[in-house]
Amino acid sequence: MKILIVDDEDMQRETLQGFLDKKGYSTLTAANGREGLELFNTYPIQLVLLDHKMPDMNGDEVLARMKEINPLIHAIMITAYGAVGTAVKVMQLGADDFLEKPVDLVELLAKIEAIEQQVAEEEDVAAVNETIDRKEMPLQVIGESPAMRKLLSVVQRVAQTPWTALIRGETGTGKELIARLIHLLSPRSQAPFIEVNCAAIPENLFESELFGHEKGSFTGATGRRKGRFELAQTGSLFLDEVGELPLSLQAKLLRALQEKKISRVGSEEDIEVDVRVLAATNRDLKQQVTDGHFREDLYYRLNVLEIEIPPLRNRKEDIPLLVDFFLERYTQHPIRFDPEAMATLIKFPFPGNVRELEHIIQRLVTMARGTVIKPADLPAEMRFHKATEQGTLADQLESMEREMIITALEKHDWVQTRAAESLGISERVLRYKMGKHSIKK
Ligand SMILES: Nc1ncnc2c1ncn2[C@@H]1O[C@H](COP(=O)(O)OP(=O)(O)OP(=O)(O)O)[C@@H](O)[C@H]1O
Ligand SMILES: [Mg+2]
Repeated sequence: MKILIVDDEDMQRETLQGFLDKKGYSTLTAANGREGLELFNTYPIQLVLLDHKMPDMNGDEVLARMKEINPLIHAIMITAYGAVGTAVKVMQLGADDFLEKPVDLVELLAKIEAIEQQVAEEEDVAAVNETIDRKEMPLQVIGESPAMRKLLSVVQRVAQTPWTALIRGETGTGKELIARLIHLLSPRSQAPFIEVNCAAIPENLFESELFGHEKGSFTGATGRRKGRFELAQTGSLFLDEVGELPLSLQAKLLRALQEKKISRVGSEEDIEVDVRVLAATNRDLKQQVTDGHFREDLYYRLNVLEIEIPPLRNRKEDIPLLVDFFLERYTQHPIRFDPEAMATLIKFPFPGNVRELEHIIQRLVTMARGTVIKPADLPAEMRFHKATEQGTLADQLESMEREMIITALEKHDWVQTRAAESLGISERVLRYKMGKHSIKK
């Protein structure tokens, strides 16, 4: 990484440069803002260490001008001791970090390493997005959260290797999507991507599904048939829900992975297979190994590279982006969420993750009459969840009461007599409570 040091104090500049050169960085120095900008215009600089107070131009201004030239520039501002106000301002200007004088070199190094890590990640994510755009891929992966960017960066690197990867994540987090993305980003993208759902195939048919069979090898085997391993030749084989694989078949799969050879059911002949295996599970496979349900040797074969997809509740920043994405996919009309409805959505923990969100949006656009989705349009469990998440007991009871009344009214097409009956209150009390909570159809 090329680092530019801009500081008007000779001593400080020399100390920083000497230290960073020794650590193997390539550095340039400037004694004032103007010189700094000149160098910045000439060399591909990725990080600047900026003294905040300089005679010709302060650090803020230098950084602002650099950002105009290259918005992706990374910066660490070096400020006077105790100048917290400046520090806040500096971060607002888009510096990655700041250090107080006198500069602690160990701390400086840690910050530079953190930025390097981030730069590497940004490059990976950019490469993924570029490939998706360039190849007009049949899939899109939405997510700008730090967790998602980290994931995409891992995916980009995993895709370039030939090794087996195990994708883990709760239900609906996007395991299959990520497996497809890895395939499409890999050198095998032109070859087939073949999926095997280990939970869906009956045990007695599994071997033939995976490895194929010869004619007459078992009752019902009326012809010779290729298995999925062979179909995936030179491509990728996706073993979905691999945790459901019966023990008897785990041994056979292990052999195929170890020897890169298979034989069809009813045949002695070995067939060489060149297949990249991707596996996914929503189970704790390690635990299954401990419990004796999954072979340890197979586990290590599959888990050469490990990819963990974070649950949606740990990357809530992605919810609005996903909402827009699914709205666009499932409706032609302009439709949007009002802020309160969006806030309710964001608070929901989504046990079914992205798939659950997708289904909710599908349902909402099907049922919506207007162009704005309001909290009352959301599924009851969401509105309830919001009610139980915050506030004092009295607040919670209030909002729970409100939710229950709305739900009952909706369920009975806003016929108050029946809604009141289902709630076990009189119609008069219902009307009073509707007034209190300002509930209108
Ligand atoms: N980041 C994302 N961007 C866009 N769509 C997504 C994203 N993540 C998941 N989806 C969509 O959510 C749905 C569920 O994803 P997928 O089937 O890959 O999940 P899964 O982890 O395999 O689920 P399961 O454990 O139930 O098999 C799919 O329609 C997928 O396209
Ligand atoms: Mg799946």
